Amino acid sequence: MSIIKIEVGPSPLGDSHNETDISMSETVSPQKLEPAAIVERVVSELSPSDLNDLCDSTDAAIKGGGGFGWLRLPAREILERYWQGVVVMPSRILMVARLDGVICGTCQLIKPVQQNEAQAHAIHLTTHFVTPWARGYGLAKKLLQKAESTARADGFSVINLDVRETQTAAISLYESLGYVRYGVHPHYAVINGEMIQGYHYTKLINADLAAHKGAATDQPR
Ligand SMILES: CC(C)(COP(=O)(O)OP(=O)(O)OC[C@H]1O[C@@H](n2cnc3c(N)ncnc32)[C@H](O)[C@@H]1OP(=O)(O)O)[C@@H](O)C(=O)NCCC(=O)NCCS
Repeated sequence: MSIIKIEVGPSPLGDSHNETDISMSETVSPQKLEPAAIVERVVSELSPSDLNDLCDSTDAAIKGGGGFGWLRLPAREILERYWQGVVVMPSRILMVARLDGVICGTCQLIKPVQQNEAQAHAIHLTTHFVTPWARGYGLAKKLLQKAESTARADGFSVINLDVRETQTAAISLYESLGYVRYGVHPHYAVINGEMIQGYHYTKLINADLAAHKGAATDQPR
């Protein structure tokens, strides 16, 4: 085996310090690595580790006050069954966010019931949250954009959603992406004994489909 020595010129510390390890003599600034922030539609059963991450994220979001209806942490088996149920229900579409591969947020689209022909164009968005440690990476916005493109591709032209008046971050995000507040529910939720209003939003995601989708009938409007 040969050993390569590097001469770096006279050393102020004397001849014995001329053979220098470059990694020690140069200032190396650590490279800042941005975490990979992605969103995806869940199209098959969740793996045990994904299910675990999803339940952990939900727990943290509930503790942080954004638990889409849950105010207390449900038992882990209930949460697992909830998410497993969402994935297999044909009327639901689940999107998840991942930060460096770890599931850390969701949103769901709920299709209208089949007999509701007059509202077959509109899909409802719910369970939209990003767990506190993963906030600020643009994941909530990406989830919404993914939900919109998915809904559009599935033939829907309107997304409806509702949110507590206290969820100010979410409200700013929805309004910045063109969701229009069309109503206020005065008795939307009760949190710690206090009545909280709810804001109802809608967004037209496909103007063409809005004009044409739906069963053609001779029904009066
Ligand atoms: C609302 C929430 C989803 C935002 O998640 P996030 O991943 O941090 O959001 P993003 O990083 O995608 O930010 C998207 C935009 O919202 C803005 N935003 C995020 N948090 C904000 C805050 N606290 N105040 C004001 N604006 C905020 C960002 O500045 C960003 O704007 P930009 O695109 O102009 O830069 C998250 O705070 C959350 O889960 N809250 C609790 C649950 C909830 O309220 N869900 C909605 C109803 S079910």
